[in-house]
Amino acid sequence: MRLRNKPWAKELIAAHPAYILVRPETIKGHWQTRFETEQPLRIEIGSGKGQFIVEMAKALPQFNFIAVEVQEAAIAMILKKQVAAQLPNLQLLYANGADLGDYFAPDEVAQIYLNFSDPWPKTRHEKRRLTYQSFLRQYQTILQPQGKLAFKTDNLGLFEYSLVSLSQFGLILDFVSLDLHHDPRVTFNIETEYETKFATKGQPIYQLKAHFK
Ligand SMILES: C[S@@+](CC[C@H](N)C(=O)[O-])C[C@H]1O[C@@H](n2cnc3c(N)ncnc32)[C@H](O)[C@@H]1O
Repeated sequence: MRLRNKPWAKELIAAHPAYILVRPETIKGHWQTRFETEQPLRIEIGSGKGQFIVEMAKALPQFNFIAVEVQEAAIAMILKKQVAAQLPNLQLLYANGADLGDYFAPDEVAQIYLNFSDPWPKTRHEKRRLTYQSFLRQYQTILQPQGKLAFKTDNLGLFEYSLVSLSQFGLILDFVSLDLHHDPRVTFNIETEYETKFATKGQPIYQLKAHFK
């Protein structure tokens, strides 16, 4: 998803250092200092316009959340929501998820969410998929023991790829749904922008939850 440039983005980002960090060099291992309360940390990589992470932070105040986004226009949209909501348990990180190890210390994170990640269907772009081995290696490092990875998508190709990639890496699958919105096992689900769009068209939503051994 490429959003049109937002001429106001840079100024908004510069005006709110309490809510957003831009490729920070010294935050690694100290994320809890950015929040009002020290509590388990959950991060979303590729948050888009932020509907999911903002609603999660509202619904689950007992966790701290971080939106990680590589696109300036997208992170600025999330920041606009956070400036209005002023949630004490939400922080924003404007950075590339490929560099997570630079921003999070080993065992700093309790849960990682990947939602409707770009599918990169061409084989030569496999390394850009957020469930590629190099990404999984970083998730394993920053996640606490038994920390969880949760992934939702409408894209069957990426879902199948991810099931194989996670299994080959040695993750344990805890939950798989091929139709999340009609799955009787599901009692709580916050939708993302993409999820609402695809589900409205009647497309099934796929979800997996897993943890590292
Ligand atoms: C298809 S959109 C999905 C947005 C949102 N998660 C949703 O479900 O509505 C994918 C988002 O991931 C972001 N993204 C892609 N690769 C990324 C990376 N390596 N690090 C951080 N964000 C990334 C894109 O900029 C885009 O906003």
